[in-house]
Amino acid sequence: MAVAQEHEILVVAPATADLLAKLAHGLADDFLTTLYLAFTGPVVLAPAMNVNMWRHAATQGNLETLRKRGHRIVEPESGYLACGMTGPGRLAEPETIAEAVAREGARRKDLEGETILITAGPTQEPLDPVRYISNRSSGRMGYALAEAAAARGARVVLVSGPVALPPLAGVETIPVRTAAEMREKVLENLDRADIVVKAAAVADYHLGRVPAQKVKKTAARMSLELDPTPDILAELGRKKGDRLLIGFAAETENLQQEARRKLEMKNCDMVVGNLVGPELGFESEENEVILALRTGAVIPLARASKREIADRIFDEALKLRLALHLAHER
Ligand code: CTP
Repeated sequence: MAVAQEHEILVVAPATADLLAKLAHGLADDFLTTLYLAFTGPVVLAPAMNVNMWRHAATQGNLETLRKRGHRIVEPESGYLACGMTGPGRLAEPETIAEAVAREGARRKDLEGETILITAGPTQEPLDPVRYISNRSSGRMGYALAEAAAARGARVVLVSGPVALPPLAGVETIPVRTAAEMREKVLENLDRADIVVKAAAVADYHLGRVPAQKVKKTAARMSLELDPTPDILAELGRKKGDRLLIGFAAETENLQQEARRKLEMKNCDMVVGNLVGPELGFESEENEVILALRTGAVIPLARASKREIADRIFDEALKLRLALHLAHER
């Protein structure tokens, strides 16, 4: 299908509920849906439909699938619709669609030639052969970053704690379990990296000496004495050279203040701060973050899919690198 190879971006505006369903499920019974399946570049979809069709669980499920696939959805606007109802469903303004297309075009291969080292997921710190301490990180944000970087042409090395996510095609994934293992693999791969993104939720404490046998329930009360794990990000801050270093701060309060504090303490160029709670953060498909930059600027990013947030992080990281005049030719 030559037309699929000859074009850089596929834009569908308006995208109907029926078309979204077909694309989500990979049906290919006409020209457009066949073109879509044969097309490997970025896809921008601008839906327009009746408000109830838009809100229907089937449509929202299909949108979720398409977003996860990395496609850009230009949200419909609210207003008076042709069907006589009022609400979201009206095709976005042409300028908004054009802006999304321009952004996709610029991102196309802007990380070509770069090696990006990303950490993702939680770490597990064993207490005995069957138990461990960990946290609620799902790894989704780190995997979205890896996927976005690979789509933009980067060579990606993903050091991943234990997660329940499918492996990413075209990404070199190094599985690890503990903070100590993560540190070792990160340092082993640091030399070849141009950008390092530490999205992993590393456990802060571990048991220094892990018993060889399962601990039995004999004591009436039990307490654990834990030692700090190595702070990988802080060590990278000391060894980063002219690499761009991006850390994360998952907080339940004082987001901006904490992001800034971590940026300075760990010598990062950017810290992505996100509030974690019942609706956002670890297990969610979406995220809402602030980017604290070395320049002193703070950029809030509106709630969006983790993949879109990942792309925005790289957009800002590249701008920041230019502003800081950091070299990336190594
Ligand atoms: N991090 C790390 N190694 C650790 C702990 C954290 O590399 N042992 C990194 C994380 O990958 C993240 C950043 O540091 O990019 C912030 O992690 P966080 O746990 O929020 O920060 P802490 O320094 O542990 O601060 P606190 O627990 O006091 O909030």
